[in-house]
Amino acid sequence: MFYLTTAIDYTNGAPHIGHAYEKVLADVIIRYRRLRGEEAYFLTGVDQHGQKVQQTAEKEGVHPATFVKRTTRKFLKLWEKLGVHYDGWAETTDPRHIACVQSILNALQQSGQLYKKTHSGHYSVRQEQFLQDRDRDESGNFGPQWGEVTVIEEENWYFRLSDHTAWLKDFIENNPDVITPAFRKAELLNALERSIGTDLCISRPKERLRWGIELPFDSNYVTYVWFDALINYISFAGYHAAPDAGLPDFDKLWNVGGRRATNLIGKDILVPAHGIYWLCMLHAMGFADAHIPRLLVHGFWNSKGGDKLSKSTGNIVDPDALADTFGVDALRYYLVRDIVTGKDSDFDLERLIMLFNTELANELGNLCNRALNMSQRFTAGILHHGAPLTADDEALQASLTESTAAYQAAMDECDVSHALEAISRHVVHCNGYAERMKPWELNKDPANAERLATVLYHLAESVAHAAVLLSPVLPDAAAKLAAQLNLPSLTTIKLADLRWGLLPDGHAIGKPKPVFPRIVVEE
Ligand code: MSP
Repeated sequence: MFYLTTAIDYTNGAPHIGHAYEKVLADVIIRYRRLRGEEAYFLTGVDQHGQKVQQTAEKEGVHPATFVKRTTRKFLKLWEKLGVHYDGWAETTDPRHIACVQSILNALQQSGQLYKKTHSGHYSVRQEQFLQDRDRDESGNFGPQWGEVTVIEEENWYFRLSDHTAWLKDFIENNPDVITPAFRKAELLNALERSIGTDLCISRPKERLRWGIELPFDSNYVTYVWFDALINYISFAGYHAAPDAGLPDFDKLWNVGGRRATNLIGKDILVPAHGIYWLCMLHAMGFADAHIPRLLVHGFWNSKGGDKLSKSTGNIVDPDALADTFGVDALRYYLVRDIVTGKDSDFDLERLIMLFNTELANELGNLCNRALNMSQRFTAGILHHGAPLTADDEALQASLTESTAAYQAAMDECDVSHALEAISRHVVHCNGYAERMKPWELNKDPANAERLATVLYHLAESVAHAAVLLSPVLPDAAAKLAAQLNLPSLTTIKLADLRWGLLPDGHAIGKPKPVFPRIVVEE
């Protein structure tokens, strides 16, 4: 079982391009695992509690529950529009999640992992946390990332994080598969070094924050939003759930067949939330080392020039509007094509248009058009394996084998960009082959009938393979191509079936229709 979760998105605003990237990437990874013939489960959702939500709702003069319902709908609508198909949907106001968080809190309380103390210190309203001296910048101030910082004295509940940091350091050092990409490990270990000896404040007094999950053993407090949110990865997987809760069976999702669950997150929430708090929370709950999830850390889409894409800088990119303007295929393709998983990239509309027009409309579109149209016109839509093979035919088949292997190696590492590049390489090879073989010339002399059939077969077979390989990224376009080729439903074709001869001798293809209309930019 491949169990994949994404971060759950804050519902204090509308979804932006960063949210869309992460969900599309997860959707692509899940569809690929299924293409590999594996069982897979995809959980995503929304983070609905916390001070930011309470504040925004107050500003808008509505109850936080009404407010989050409204914003949650925007996320749901966007995922539907972008073809993000999840199996489980996590909302942190769901009573089943609340029950799970409270049962975990009770268990931790009973095992002595929680205690109450008074603390006086600097508090960041934006990040909803107390700050330490190590959070000051070189000039001794708390930087703008913390927003408004006030001094408060408060009695709160704490989780004995410091009891688990030695274990965590050892665990991270000895399990290189847990943090991917590997270069993020050093960042985590450094942060861990700095946090040794500190515990985690997991409560907020109700006078300050009411919009949260009440502590089951102290009704004056609600749970710190991160402690609540992180638990979604297990609560919606059925951890501590009643059998009739309508949730999956935890043992059938979590760490099945020795494979760690994968938490896909952005680089900004590795430290401290996932890399330190979450892993220590699981350890405190009694999860064995083999049952600790893998953290797959993706990079950021920035605005051109490297600035942050954020509401405050006015650099917001609306995925919903982009999908309307350029189409879902162009947006999905760009989001996973022009960024290497783990690294950052600059969001650039010109590149979105250029990549779609070059790799899909021109190269792939051209290949589909040649393969399908010429087969209809010259061989009445019937494909023949043909013989004998020339060096050009053999080189085309070798190119497909190489591209498919490179695609698989990249996709196994969640490196979608290089996988797409590999498909594109073969498509370009095919167009070069078509130009050299000139089927339109071969058609002029009936003596070339067999050679013509062989050439067209090589082109059509390549389109069939490309449709299957592209299906995780462009499921709708791939299904259209498959339908035009009269292939069986793509869900029944697995990666292992991809060998030469997918289209049988004598196969009749369907009616060709362009799938990737060029994006035309009006001046
Ligand atoms: N609610 C928390 C996560 C809790 S998980 C238990 C949160 N929410 S968020 O809405 O701010 O971010 C959701 C996800 O989007 C995170 O993984 C974050 O890294 C990702 N991104 C936010 N901005 C992004 C970009 N500009 N680019 C890529 N991903 C980005 O954090």
